[in-house]
Amino acid sequence: MSNTIFDFVGGTTGEWKVIKMNTLKGDALAEITHIDRTSSSLIKGNEGIWTLKGIVSNLRYTEKAEKEKLIAIQEDLGRPSATQAAFIPLRKSADWWNLAQDERRKIMEESSKHTQTGLKYLPAIARKLFHSRDIGEAFDFLTWFEYAPADEEAFEELLYSLRKTEEWNYVDREVDIRLLRG
Ligand code: HEM
Repeated sequence: MSNTIFDFVGGTTGEWKVIKMNTLKGDALAEITHIDRTSSSLIKGNEGIWTLKGIVSNLRYTEKAEKEKLIAIQEDLGRPSATQAAFIPLRKSADWWNLAQDERRKIMEESSKHTQTGLKYLPAIARKLFHSRDIGEAFDFLTWFEYAPADEEAFEELLYSLRKTEEWNYVDREVDIRLLRG
């Protein structure tokens, strides 16, 4: 079985060099100069200055038509041209988690248009979502994006759009880390 558990190790060595670290909400993370994304396990101990664990999981909210659109145009991580990355760990509030699945879907898509907006930035932005909440981590989600320098502005525009939505009212911790492939 291919591994689905990853460690994001923040420290002083690694494949990705930190160019900017910005705490938007909640507690900051300790300053680091590099991040490594490594295949891991639930029991593997911590390394670096901090380690955040995430799991590649199933989709929760995406409907069939959306899934097909995403699969048709999305690109994988690791494109040689995508020399820039963003690592954005997020946590959502208890209010969010107390909602029912259909209420959360309504906020994410009918109100906030998360997928609809995101689709406009594909395939330029490659993305991967890792889940952390169910393994007792400090964040609920670890998000990772890769893009070419020419698409950095588009990525900023996407973040600006998403952060204004109703969905983001439920985000209570967010740290935005920008990286360059070392
Ligand atoms: C979830 C698409 C950009 C943060 C999702 C889901 C989709 C999606 C389809 C739902 C997954 C599911 O069904 O469980 C996209 C597309 C993007 C994009 C196409 C274009 C690049 C972003 C950005 C952020 C972000 C810039 C900001 C950090 C998240 C988070 C979740 C999520 C935290 C999980 C939400 C939850 O389960 O409550 N995204 N997204 N996404 N996305 Fe995005």
